[in-house]
Amino acid sequence: MCNLVSKYNIAGPRYTSYPTVPYWNNDTFSLKLWKASLIKSINESNAKEGISIYIHLPYCESLCTFCGCNKRITKRHEVESPYINAILKEWDMYCELLGIRPKIKELHLGGGTPTFFAPENLNRLINGLLKKAALANGYEFSFEGHPNNTTRAHLQALYNVGFRRVSYGVQDYNETVQKAIHRIQPFKHVKQATEMAREIGYTSVGHDIIFGLPFQTLEHVEETIRRTKELIPDRLAFYSYAHVPWIKGNGQRGFKKSDLPSAALKREQYELGKKLLSEAGYHEIGMDHFALPSDSLYKSMKTHKLHRNFMGYSASKTQAMIGLGVSSISDSWYGFAQNVKGIEEYYHLLKENILPVYRGHILNQEDLIIRKHILNLMCDFKTSWTKDYLFINELPEILIKLKEMELDGLLEINFNSIEVLPKGQPFIRNICMAFDVLLQRKKPDTQLFSMTV
Ligand SMILES: C[S@@+](CC[C@H](N)C(=O)[O-])C[C@H]1O[C@@H](n2cnc3c(N)ncnc32)[C@H](O)[C@@H]1O
Ligand code: SF4
Repeated sequence: MCNLVSKYNIAGPRYTSYPTVPYWNNDTFSLKLWKASLIKSINESNAKEGISIYIHLPYCESLCTFCGCNKRITKRHEVESPYINAILKEWDMYCELLGIRPKIKELHLGGGTPTFFAPENLNRLINGLLKKAALANGYEFSFEGHPNNTTRAHLQALYNVGFRRVSYGVQDYNETVQKAIHRIQPFKHVKQATEMAREIGYTSVGHDIIFGLPFQTLEHVEETIRRTKELIPDRLAFYSYAHVPWIKGNGQRGFKKSDLPSAALKREQYELGKKLLSEAGYHEIGMDHFALPSDSLYKSMKTHKLHRNFMGYSASKTQAMIGLGVSSISDSWYGFAQNVKGIEEYYHLLKENILPVYRGHILNQEDLIIRKHILNLMCDFKTSWTKDYLFINELPEILIKLKEMELDGLLEINFNSIEVLPKGQPFIRNICMAFDVLLQRKKPDTQLFSMTV
Protein backbone atom coordinates (compact mmCIF):
# COMPACT_ATOMS: atom_id res chain seq x y z
CA MET A 1 0.00 0.00 0.00
CA CYS A 2 2.91 2.35 0.83
CA ASN A 3 4.24 2.29 -2.75
CA LEU A 4 0.76 2.93 -4.09
CA VAL A 5 0.41 5.92 -1.75
CA SER A 6 3.62 7.51 -2.99
CA LYS A 7 2.68 6.77 -6.61
CA TYR A 8 -0.91 8.06 -6.45
CA ASN A 9 -0.68 10.88 -3.90
CA ILE A 10 -1.02 13.76 -6.35
CA ALA A 11 -3.15 16.89 -6.49
CA GLY A 12 -6.61 15.98 -7.78
CA PRO A 13 -10.27 17.05 -7.80
CA ARG A 14 -12.94 15.65 -5.46
CA TYR A 15 -15.39 15.51 -8.38
CA THR A 16 -18.47 17.10 -6.91
CA SER A 17 -18.89 18.22 -10.52
CA TYR A 18 -17.55 17.46 -13.97
CA PRO A 19 -16.11 19.58 -15.48
CA THR A 20 -14.46 20.66 -12.22
CA VAL A 21 -14.79 24.36 -11.38
CA PRO A 22 -11.29 25.48 -12.57
CA TYR A 23 -12.08 23.92 -15.97
CA TRP A 24 -15.39 25.68 -16.53
CA ASN A 25 -15.44 27.56 -19.81
CA ASN A 26 -16.65 31.05 -18.97
CA ASP A 27 -16.26 32.15 -22.60
CA THR A 28 -19.17 29.97 -23.71
CA PHE A 29 -21.25 30.75 -20.61
CA SER A 30 -23.83 33.51 -20.21
CA LEU A 31 -26.64 34.23 -17.79
CA LYS A 32 -29.07 33.80 -20.71
CA LEU A 33 -27.76 30.29 -21.50
CA TRP A 34 -27.79 29.38 -17.81
CA LYS A 35 -31.43 30.43 -17.44
CA ALA A 36 -32.42 28.50 -20.59
CA SER A 37 -30.64 25.35 -19.36
CA LEU A 38 -32.40 25.56 -15.99
CA ILE A 39 -35.85 26.08 -17.55
CA LYS A 40 -35.28 23.06 -19.85
CA SER A 41 -34.13 20.90 -16.95
CA ILE A 42 -36.96 21.85 -14.63
CA ASN A 43 -39.56 21.31 -17.35
CA GLU A 44 -38.15 17.82 -17.84
CA SER A 45 -37.80 16.82 -14.20
CA ASN A 46 -39.89 18.89 -11.78
CA ALA A 47 -43.12 16.88 -12.12
CA LYS A 48 -41.26 13.55 -12.11
CA GLU A 49 -38.69 13.82 -9.33
CA GLY A 50 -38.68 17.40 -8.06
CA ILE A 51 -35.63 19.58 -7.51
CA SER A 52 -32.91 20.06 -4.89
CA ILE A 53 -32.15 23.29 -3.12
CA TYR A 54 -28.90 24.19 -1.38
CA ILE A 55 -28.78 27.31 0.79
CA HIS A 56 -25.41 28.69 1.86
CA LEU A 57 -25.46 30.42 5.26
CA PRO A 58 -21.91 31.76 5.49
CA TYR A 59 -21.60 33.20 9.00
CA CYS A 60 -19.58 31.67 11.87
CA GLU A 61 -18.76 33.26 15.22
CA SER A 62 -15.21 31.95 15.33
CA LEU A 63 -12.66 30.85 12.73
CA CYS A 64 -11.50 27.21 12.69
CA THR A 65 -8.07 27.34 11.09
CA PHE A 66 -8.41 24.07 9.15
CA CYS A 67 -11.60 25.17 7.41
CA GLY A 68 -11.81 25.15 3.62
CA CYS A 69 -15.44 26.36 3.41
CA ASN A 70 -16.64 29.75 2.25
CA LYS A 71 -17.41 31.61 5.49
CA ARG A 72 -17.60 35.06 7.05
CA ILE A 73 -16.58 35.44 10.70
CA THR A 74 -18.62 37.82 12.84
CA LYS A 75 -20.32 38.06 16.22
CA ARG A 76 -22.79 40.66 14.96
CA HIS A 77 -26.08 38.85 14.69
CA GLU A 78 -27.84 41.81 13.08
CA VAL A 79 -26.44 40.43 9.78
CA GLU A 80 -29.00 37.61 9.91
CA SER A 81 -32.16 39.40 8.78
CA PRO A 82 -30.81 41.16 5.68
CA TYR A 83 -29.20 37.91 4.56
CA ILE A 84 -32.46 35.95 4.88
CA ASN A 85 -34.28 38.72 2.98
CA ALA A 86 -31.73 38.47 0.19
CA ILE A 87 -32.08 34.69 -0.12
CA LEU A 88 -35.85 34.97 -0.28
CA LYS A 89 -35.47 37.61 -2.99
CA GLU A 90 -33.16 35.32 -4.99
CA TRP A 91 -35.67 32.46 -4.60
CA ASP A 92 -38.51 34.72 -5.82
CA MET A 93 -36.47 35.59 -8.89
CA TYR A 94 -35.92 31.91 -9.69
CA CYS A 95 -39.63 31.10 -9.18
CA GLU A 96 -40.59 33.93 -11.48
CA LEU A 97 -38.10 32.77 -14.10
CA LEU A 98 -39.37 29.18 -13.99
CA GLY A 99 -43.03 30.18 -14.04
CA ILE A 100 -44.06 27.03 -12.16
CA ARG A 101 -44.29 25.90 -8.56
CA PRO A 102 -41.01 24.05 -7.96
CA LYS A 103 -41.45 20.72 -6.18
CA ILE A 104 -38.77 20.31 -3.53
CA LYS A 105 -37.31 16.83 -3.09
CA GLU A 106 -34.19 17.83 -1.21
CA LEU A 107 -33.29 20.90 0.79
CA HIS A 108 -29.96 21.36 2.54
CA LEU A 109 -28.72 24.23 4.69
CA GLY A 110 -24.92 24.40 4.65
CA GLY A 111 -22.28 26.87 5.59
CA GLY A 112 -20.61 28.48 7.34
CA THR A 113 -22.82 27.69 10.27
CA PRO A 114 -26.59 27.50 9.74
CA THR A 115 -27.03 27.41 13.54
CA PHE A 116 -25.39 30.85 13.73
CA PHE A 117 -28.88 32.06 12.75
CA ALA A 118 -31.62 32.38 15.37
CA PRO A 119 -34.36 29.69 15.18
CA GLU A 120 -36.97 32.38 14.31
CA ASN A 121 -34.89 33.50 11.34
CA LEU A 122 -34.40 29.95 10.06
CA ASN A 123 -38.13 29.42 10.44
CA ARG A 124 -38.83 32.59 8.43
CA LEU A 125 -36.41 31.43 5.74
CA ILE A 126 -37.99 28.00 5.28
CA ASN A 127 -41.58 29.21 5.47
CA GLY A 128 -40.78 31.96 2.96
CA LEU A 129 -39.31 29.38 0.61
CA LEU A 130 -42.19 26.93 0.96
CA LYS A 131 -44.77 29.63 0.23
CA LYS A 132 -43.82 29.39 -3.45
CA ALA A 133 -43.05 25.66 -3.62
CA ALA A 134 -44.66 22.23 -3.38
CA LEU A 135 -43.17 19.18 -1.68
CA ALA A 136 -42.17 16.00 -3.51
CA ASN A 137 -43.00 12.57 -2.06
CA GLY A 138 -40.31 11.43 0.35
CA TYR A 139 -38.72 14.89 0.56
CA GLU A 140 -35.57 15.16 2.68
CA PHE A 141 -34.60 18.32 4.53
CA SER A 142 -31.21 18.45 6.26
CA PHE A 143 -28.84 20.95 7.85
CA GLU A 144 -25.32 21.30 9.19
CA GLY A 145 -25.21 22.14 12.89
CA HIS A 146 -22.28 23.27 15.00
CA PRO A 147 -22.34 21.21 18.24
CA ASN A 148 -21.20 24.29 20.20
CA ASN A 149 -24.21 26.39 19.26
CA THR A 150 -27.05 24.08 18.18
CA THR A 151 -29.85 24.52 20.71
CA ARG A 152 -33.05 22.57 21.34
CA ALA A 153 -34.91 25.58 19.91
CA HIS A 154 -32.95 25.31 16.61
CA LEU A 155 -33.63 21.60 16.33
CA GLN A 156 -37.32 21.99 17.19
CA ALA A 157 -37.89 24.94 14.84
CA LEU A 158 -36.34 23.07 11.91
CA TYR A 159 -38.12 19.82 12.80
CA ASN A 160 -41.44 21.70 12.74
CA VAL A 161 -40.83 22.75 9.13
CA GLY A 162 -39.86 19.26 7.94
CA PHE A 163 -36.17 18.69 8.77
CA ARG A 164 -35.32 15.10 9.79
CA ARG A 165 -31.57 14.98 9.22
CA VAL A 166 -28.75 16.92 10.86
CA SER A 167 -24.98 16.59 10.54
CA TYR A 168 -22.62 17.91 13.20
CA GLY A 169 -19.02 19.00 12.67
CA VAL A 170 -16.91 17.00 15.15
CA GLN A 171 -13.47 16.75 13.45
CA ASP A 172 -11.40 15.25 16.33
CA TYR A 173 -11.85 15.01 20.12
CA ASN A 174 -8.19 15.45 21.08
CA GLU A 175 -7.36 18.71 22.84
CA THR A 176 -3.99 19.28 21.13
CA VAL A 177 -5.59 18.85 17.73
CA GLN A 178 -8.53 21.04 18.71
CA LYS A 179 -6.19 23.80 19.89
CA ALA A 180 -4.19 23.64 16.64
CA ILE A 181 -7.36 24.02 14.54
CA HIS A 182 -8.79 26.66 16.90
CA ARG A 183 -11.92 24.69 17.62
CA ILE A 184 -12.43 23.73 21.24
CA GLN A 185 -15.37 21.40 21.30
CA PRO A 186 -15.93 19.08 24.24
CA PHE A 187 -17.50 15.66 23.79
CA LYS A 188 -20.39 16.68 26.04
CA HIS A 189 -21.54 19.28 23.49
CA VAL A 190 -21.65 16.71 20.71
CA LYS A 191 -23.41 14.21 22.99
CA GLN A 192 -26.02 16.76 24.00
CA ALA A 193 -26.67 17.95 20.44
CA THR A 194 -26.93 14.35 19.20
CA GLU A 195 -29.30 13.26 21.97
CA MET A 196 -31.51 16.35 21.62
CA ALA A 197 -31.95 15.69 17.89
CA ARG A 198 -32.97 12.10 18.59
CA GLU A 199 -35.39 13.11 21.37
CA ILE A 200 -37.11 15.55 19.02
CA GLY A 201 -37.51 12.89 16.31
CA TYR A 202 -34.66 13.37 13.81
CA THR A 203 -34.24 10.08 11.97
CA SER A 204 -30.64 10.61 10.82
CA VAL A 205 -27.89 12.24 12.85
CA GLY A 206 -24.49 12.50 11.16
CA HIS A 207 -21.04 13.41 12.45
CA ASP A 208 -18.17 14.82 10.35
CA ILE A 209 -14.76 13.59 11.45
CA ILE A 210 -11.44 14.31 9.77
CA PHE A 211 -8.12 12.51 9.48
CA GLY A 212 -4.83 14.16 8.51
CA LEU A 213 -5.28 17.17 10.82
CA PRO A 214 -2.27 18.94 12.42
CA PHE A 215 -0.67 16.93 15.25
CA GLN A 216 -3.20 14.11 14.75
CA THR A 217 -1.90 10.63 15.51
CA LEU A 218 -3.29 7.12 15.02
CA GLU A 219 -4.23 7.11 18.71
CA HIS A 220 -6.26 10.31 18.27
CA VAL A 221 -8.19 8.79 15.37
CA GLU A 222 -8.83 5.66 17.43
CA GLU A 223 -10.02 7.69 20.42
CA THR A 224 -12.27 9.89 18.27
CA ILE A 225 -13.90 6.82 16.76
CA ARG A 226 -14.24 5.17 20.18
CA ARG A 227 -16.15 8.24 21.43
CA THR A 228 -18.14 8.45 18.19
CA LYS A 229 -19.29 4.85 18.72
CA GLU A 230 -20.74 5.84 22.10
CA LEU A 231 -23.20 8.12 20.28
CA ILE A 232 -23.88 5.81 17.27
CA PRO A 233 -24.45 8.47 14.58
CA ASP A 234 -26.49 7.07 11.67
CA ARG A 235 -24.03 8.45 9.15
CA LEU A 236 -20.44 9.63 9.20
CA ALA A 237 -18.38 11.76 6.91
CA PHE A 238 -14.77 10.64 7.40
CA TYR A 239 -12.97 13.36 5.46
CA SER A 240 -9.37 13.54 4.45
CA TYR A 241 -8.09 16.94 5.60
CA ALA A 242 -7.78 19.12 2.48
CA HIS A 243 -4.87 21.51 2.85
CA VAL A 244 -5.63 24.29 0.37
CA PRO A 245 -4.01 27.43 1.83
CA TRP A 246 -3.76 29.05 -1.61
CA ILE A 247 -7.54 29.58 -1.78
CA LYS A 248 -8.03 33.27 -1.13
CA GLY A 249 -9.34 34.19 2.30
CA ASN A 250 -10.03 30.65 3.53
CA GLY A 251 -8.09 31.21 6.77
CA GLN A 252 -6.01 27.98 6.75
CA ARG A 253 -3.24 29.07 9.09
CA GLY A 254 -2.17 28.72 12.73
CA PHE A 255 -0.14 25.58 12.08
CA LYS A 256 2.73 24.68 9.79
CA LYS A 257 2.74 22.20 6.94
CA SER A 258 5.30 20.23 8.96
CA ASP A 259 2.68 19.82 11.75
CA LEU A 260 0.57 17.74 9.36
CA PRO A 261 0.90 13.93 9.24
CA SER A 262 2.82 12.50 6.26
CA ALA A 263 0.86 10.99 3.34
CA ALA A 264 1.75 7.48 4.56
CA LEU A 265 0.52 8.21 8.09
CA LYS A 266 -2.61 9.83 6.71
CA ARG A 267 -3.35 6.68 4.73
CA GLU A 268 -2.80 4.60 7.88
CA GLN A 269 -5.25 6.84 9.74
CA TYR A 270 -7.84 6.25 7.02
CA GLU A 271 -7.26 2.47 7.04
CA LEU A 272 -7.52 2.36 10.84
CA GLY A 273 -10.71 4.46 10.83
CA LYS A 274 -12.27 2.31 8.12
CA LYS A 275 -11.46 -0.89 10.05
CA LEU A 276 -12.87 0.46 13.32
CA LEU A 277 -15.99 1.79 11.64
CA SER A 278 -16.68 -1.45 9.81
CA GLU A 279 -16.22 -3.39 13.07
CA ALA A 280 -18.85 -1.04 14.53
CA GLY A 281 -21.34 -1.94 11.76
CA TYR A 282 -20.78 1.01 9.38
CA HIS A 283 -20.56 0.52 5.61
CA GLU A 284 -18.40 2.64 3.37
CA ILE A 285 -20.42 4.71 0.90
CA GLY A 286 -18.56 5.99 -2.17
CA MET A 287 -15.75 8.27 -1.04
CA ASP A 288 -15.43 9.73 2.50
CA HIS A 289 -18.75 8.43 3.84
CA PHE A 290 -19.96 5.66 6.13
CA ALA A 291 -23.52 4.75 7.16
CA LEU A 292 -25.42 2.23 9.22
CA PRO A 293 -27.64 -0.16 7.20
CA SER A 294 -30.73 1.64 8.54
CA ASP A 295 -29.69 5.01 7.02
CA SER A 296 -31.10 6.20 3.67
CA LEU A 297 -27.58 6.70 2.26
CA TYR A 298 -26.79 2.99 2.69
CA LYS A 299 -30.15 1.97 1.23
CA SER A 300 -29.66 4.15 -1.83
CA MET A 301 -26.16 2.71 -2.37
CA LYS A 302 -27.62 -0.81 -2.23
CA THR A 303 -30.33 0.07 -4.78
CA HIS A 304 -27.84 1.95 -7.02
CA LYS A 305 -29.63 5.24 -6.45
CA LEU A 306 -26.76 7.08 -4.80
CA HIS A 307 -26.11 10.49 -6.33
CA ARG A 308 -23.31 13.04 -6.00
CA ASN A 309 -23.48 16.78 -6.49
CA PHE A 310 -22.09 19.93 -4.88
CA MET A 311 -23.67 18.95 -1.56
CA GLY A 312 -21.63 15.70 -1.62
CA TYR A 313 -23.46 12.34 -1.66
CA SER A 314 -27.22 12.26 -1.56
CA ALA A 315 -29.76 9.47 -1.28
CA SER A 316 -31.99 10.71 -4.09
CA LYS A 317 -31.19 11.86 -7.57
CA THR A 318 -32.62 15.07 -8.90
CA GLN A 319 -31.69 16.51 -12.27
CA ALA A 320 -31.75 20.13 -11.13
CA MET A 321 -30.28 21.78 -8.07
CA ILE A 322 -30.65 25.47 -7.29
CA GLY A 323 -28.02 26.97 -5.01
CA LEU A 324 -29.04 30.11 -3.11
CA GLY A 325 -26.80 32.47 -1.17
CA VAL A 326 -23.22 33.65 -1.61
CA SER A 327 -20.83 31.27 -3.42
CA SER A 328 -23.56 28.62 -3.95
CA ILE A 329 -23.37 26.53 -7.07
CA SER A 330 -26.43 25.53 -9.07
CA ASP A 331 -26.55 22.55 -11.41
CA SER A 332 -29.16 22.15 -14.15
CA TRP A 333 -27.47 18.96 -15.43
CA TYR A 334 -26.89 20.82 -18.70
CA GLY A 335 -25.01 23.64 -16.99
CA PHE A 336 -23.46 24.96 -13.77
CA ALA A 337 -23.62 28.47 -12.32
CA GLN A 338 -21.88 29.89 -9.28
CA ASN A 339 -22.99 32.89 -7.26
CA VAL A 340 -20.67 35.75 -6.32
CA LYS A 341 -18.72 35.16 -3.12
CA GLY A 342 -18.89 38.63 -1.56
CA ILE A 343 -21.98 39.45 0.50
CA GLU A 344 -22.00 43.13 -0.53
CA GLU A 345 -21.88 42.24 -4.22
CA TYR A 346 -24.59 39.61 -3.71
CA TYR A 347 -26.87 42.25 -2.16
CA HIS A 348 -26.07 44.76 -4.86
CA LEU A 349 -26.93 42.43 -7.77
CA LEU A 350 -30.18 41.31 -6.16
CA LYS A 351 -31.15 44.93 -5.58
CA GLU A 352 -30.67 45.47 -9.33
CA ASN A 353 -32.91 42.42 -10.00
CA ILE A 354 -29.99 40.48 -11.48
CA LEU A 355 -29.38 36.82 -10.58
CA PRO A 356 -26.10 37.02 -8.62
CA VAL A 357 -24.22 34.52 -10.82
CA TYR A 358 -20.61 35.33 -11.71
CA ARG A 359 -19.35 32.27 -13.53
CA GLY A 360 -20.50 28.96 -14.92
CA HIS A 361 -20.26 26.33 -17.60
CA ILE A 362 -22.62 24.89 -20.22
CA LEU A 363 -21.91 21.19 -20.76
CA ASN A 364 -21.23 19.90 -24.29
CA GLN A 365 -21.82 16.32 -25.49
CA GLU A 366 -18.36 15.18 -24.42
CA ASP A 367 -18.75 16.72 -20.94
CA LEU A 368 -22.07 14.92 -20.47
CA ILE A 369 -20.56 11.53 -21.37
CA ILE A 370 -17.55 11.95 -19.08
CA ARG A 371 -19.70 13.31 -16.28
CA LYS A 372 -21.81 10.15 -16.45
CA HIS A 373 -18.75 7.91 -16.11
CA ILE A 374 -17.32 9.94 -13.23
CA LEU A 375 -20.66 9.86 -11.40
CA ASN A 376 -20.92 6.09 -11.93
CA LEU A 377 -17.44 5.60 -10.51
CA MET A 378 -17.89 7.93 -7.52
CA CYS A 379 -21.28 6.41 -6.59
CA ASP A 380 -21.08 2.79 -7.76
CA PHE A 381 -17.35 2.06 -8.21
CA LYS A 382 -18.01 0.85 -11.76
CA THR A 383 -18.95 2.17 -15.16
CA SER A 384 -19.68 0.73 -18.58
CA TRP A 385 -19.82 2.14 -22.06
CA THR A 386 -21.33 1.50 -25.41
CA LYS A 387 -21.01 3.56 -28.58
CA ASP A 388 -21.29 6.87 -26.70
CA TYR A 389 -17.82 6.43 -25.36
CA LEU A 390 -16.24 6.62 -28.82
CA PHE A 391 -16.99 10.35 -28.90
CA ILE A 392 -13.97 10.90 -26.71
CA ASN A 393 -10.86 11.39 -28.81
CA GLU A 394 -8.52 10.42 -26.02
CA LEU A 395 -9.98 6.91 -25.55
CA PRO A 396 -6.59 5.16 -26.22
CA GLU A 397 -4.84 7.36 -23.60
CA ILE A 398 -7.62 6.72 -21.08
CA LEU A 399 -7.28 2.96 -21.61
CA ILE A 400 -3.48 3.10 -21.14
CA LYS A 401 -3.95 4.84 -17.78
CA LEU A 402 -6.63 2.37 -16.71
CA LYS A 403 -4.44 -0.57 -17.79
CA GLU A 404 -1.66 0.68 -15.51
CA MET A 405 -4.13 0.92 -12.63
CA GLU A 406 -5.30 -2.62 -13.41
CA LEU A 407 -1.69 -3.83 -13.13
CA ASP A 408 -1.50 -2.07 -9.75
CA GLY A 409 -4.56 -4.06 -8.64
CA LEU A 410 -6.84 -1.01 -8.36
CA LEU A 411 -9.46 -2.06 -10.91
CA GLU A 412 -10.55 -4.68 -13.40
CA ILE A 413 -11.11 -3.91 -17.08
CA ASN A 414 -13.78 -5.98 -18.81
CA PHE A 415 -15.08 -5.95 -22.39
CA ASN A 416 -17.02 -2.67 -22.12
CA SER A 417 -16.80 -1.81 -18.44
CA ILE A 418 -14.44 -1.26 -15.53
CA GLU A 419 -14.93 -2.18 -11.90
CA VAL A 420 -12.96 -0.67 -9.03
CA LEU A 421 -11.51 -3.33 -6.71
CA PRO A 422 -11.45 -2.84 -2.89
CA LYS A 423 -7.73 -1.98 -3.11
CA GLY A 424 -8.59 0.77 -5.60
CA GLN A 425 -11.42 2.39 -3.63
CA PRO A 426 -9.13 4.74 -1.63
CA PHE A 427 -7.74 5.92 -5.01
CA ILE A 428 -11.12 6.62 -6.62
CA ARG A 429 -10.17 10.27 -7.28
CA ASN A 430 -7.12 9.07 -9.25
CA ILE A 431 -9.28 6.63 -11.25
CA CYS A 432 -11.74 9.40 -12.13
CA MET A 433 -8.79 11.56 -13.18
CA ALA A 434 -8.03 9.03 -15.96
CA PHE A 435 -11.38 10.03 -17.54
CA ASP A 436 -10.88 13.76 -16.96
CA VAL A 437 -9.78 14.74 -20.46
CA LEU A 438 -9.92 18.47 -19.67
CA LEU A 439 -7.33 17.98 -16.92
CA GLN A 440 -5.16 15.88 -19.28
CA ARG A 441 -5.38 18.47 -22.06
CA LYS A 442 -4.31 21.36 -19.87
CA LYS A 443 -2.38 20.51 -16.72
CA PRO A 444 -2.68 23.35 -14.17
CA ASP A 445 0.36 25.66 -13.84
CA THR A 446 -0.16 26.01 -10.08
CA GLN A 447 -1.73 23.67 -7.53
CA LEU A 448 -5.53 23.93 -7.78
CA PHE A 449 -6.67 20.81 -5.93
CA SER A 450 -5.92 19.09 -2.62
CA MET A 451 -3.79 15.92 -2.56
CA THR A 452 -5.68 12.72 -3.32
CA VAL A 453 -4.40 10.94 -0.17
C1 LIG B 1 -19.69 23.89 7.00
S1 LIG B 1 -18.88 22.77 8.06
C2 LIG B 1 -20.07 22.12 9.20
C3 LIG B 1 -20.97 23.01 10.00
C4 LIG B 1 -20.36 23.90 11.05
N1 LIG B 1 -19.81 25.06 10.44
C5 LIG B 1 -19.32 23.22 11.88
O1 LIG B 1 -18.16 23.52 11.68
O2 LIG B 1 -19.68 22.40 12.73
C6 LIG B 1 -18.78 21.39 6.99
C7 LIG B 1 -17.73 20.33 7.24
O3 LIG B 1 -16.71 20.44 6.26
C8 LIG B 1 -15.57 19.76 6.72
N2 LIG B 1 -14.37 20.52 6.34
C9 LIG B 1 -14.20 21.86 6.41
N3 LIG B 1 -12.95 22.19 5.99
C10 LIG B 1 -12.33 21.03 5.65
C11 LIG B 1 -11.04 20.71 5.14
N4 LIG B 1 -10.13 21.65 4.91
N5 LIG B 1 -10.76 19.41 4.88
C12 LIG B 1 -11.68 18.44 5.10
N6 LIG B 1 -12.91 18.68 5.58
C13 LIG B 1 -13.24 19.96 5.85
C14 LIG B 1 -15.69 19.66 8.23
O4 LIG B 1 -15.75 18.31 8.63
C15 LIG B 1 -16.98 20.40 8.54
O5 LIG B 1 -17.69 19.81 9.59
S1 SF4 C 1 -15.52 24.51 10.32
FE1 SF4 C 1 -17.61 25.29 10.45
S2 SF4 C 1 -17.57 26.73 12.19
FE2 SF4 C 1 -15.46 26.37 11.64
S3 SF4 C 1 -14.97 28.08 10.28
FE3 SF4 C 1 -15.59 26.32 9.01
S4 SF4 C 1 -17.71 26.59 8.61
FE4 SF4 C 1 -17.17 27.93 10.34
